[in-house]
Amino acid sequence: MGIVGGGKAGRNLALAFKAAGRAEVAVFCTRHEDSAREAARWCDVPHWTTDLEAMLADDSIDALVIATPDEYHCEQTVMAARAGKHVLCEKPMCRSLEEAERMIEEAERHQVILMIGFTERYSHPCHEAKRRIDEGEIGTPRMILARRCHPRSIVRGRSWLNDLETGGVLNYAGTHNIDLICWFMGARPERVYAEMGQLILTGQNFTDGAVMTFRFSNGGIAALYETFAYPGRYPHGVDRNIEILGDRGVIKIDFMSQPLMMYTEEGAQVVDSITWPAAGGKIGGALQAEVEHFIRCIESGERPLTSGAEGKLALQIALAAREAAQSGKAVTIGKV
Ligand SMILES: NC(=O)c1ccc[n+]([C@@H]2O[C@H](COP(=O)([O-])OP(=O)(O)OC[C@H]3O[C@@H](n4cnc5c(N)ncnc54)[C@H](OP(=O)(O)O)[C@@H]3O)[C@@H](O)[C@H]2O)c1
Repeated sequence: MGIVGGGKAGRNLALAFKAAGRAEVAVFCTRHEDSAREAARWCDVPHWTTDLEAMLADDSIDALVIATPDEYHCEQTVMAARAGKHVLCEKPMCRSLEEAERMIEEAERHQVILMIGFTERYSHPCHEAKRRIDEGEIGTPRMILARRCHPRSIVRGRSWLNDLETGGVLNYAGTHNIDLICWFMGARPERVYAEMGQLILTGQNFTDGAVMTFRFSNGGIAALYETFAYPGRYPHGVDRNIEILGDRGVIKIDFMSQPLMMYTEEGAQVVDSITWPAAGGKIGGALQAEVEHFIRCIESGERPLTSGAEGKLALQIALAAREAAQSGKAVTIGKV
């Protein structure tokens, strides 16, 4: 494995591959020697480079993780596919439908796996919720409510997190919940409406708050609430939950009820046990399940649960929501 991008996502994924154990992370690649060297040191990975082309020419590397800022996802995925490497690309898949189509086409042409890092799909509560929905335990899903609230500290230091380079909150983080809502509803999204704005954070040209609604082909409806403007020292990390109401019951996923909490003079801290819990230089939870799924797809040739098609659909809906907010009119989602 090679990992492109040595920030939070790249490092977490490297440690999750270590926990999974069936793949060896051999090298980190970034644009600057300092960041590549530091990521390799931090994750105890043997090599680092700033030369992506040399990494792609290395026959001992079978697959790449693309964990760079969103604007590079398309170009780097296409380069990797052309070099015959399987790709686990971070969400959001890219910035436009044209880019998404190129990524899918190149992966298909070169017969490599393209998986998108919708980590929540691989968490135990989401996995179990979907299994129960599919087995009819709550009947047909009719309504879904999802919210996801990031502390504003995530935005600081990431100057690329702006509307121009990544789209607003719905593209960047909302695609997690957009993907989950479509998955749980199990029907085709037909229409969306949204309101959004640069509501609280200033000086970064970043749409930090959005609400949106969905209508699905089965008559189901859903609503989403997303923000990047929670207080910077909010103790719960990313505060999020989802409710799915079927005609025979309701499922509630509360990612925030964690078994380990800590209170000191500096404040409260809730320790993640679901998404990417860290212990002993490895990362478990949903992220470990995600990379294990990627490895299994490479070994068996099976289609990833979160393939390029899912990445493209989530992006298409986020872009339609932005159009709806700009025009003040609901937007119909065309065939995907
Ligand atoms: N699945 C999830 O839940 C999740 C969570 C967090 C982030 N993400 C995604 O992961 C991606 C990265 O986010 P992050 O938070 O890790 O960002 P970050 O902390 O800002 O790190 C970005 C890394 O990419 C490197 N980089 C930037 N441009 C590059 C290029 N052209 N080629 C090679 N390396 C490059 C940077 O180093 P240099 O500047 O030295 O090149 C840095 O090491 C984003 O797409 C984000 O949406 C996903």
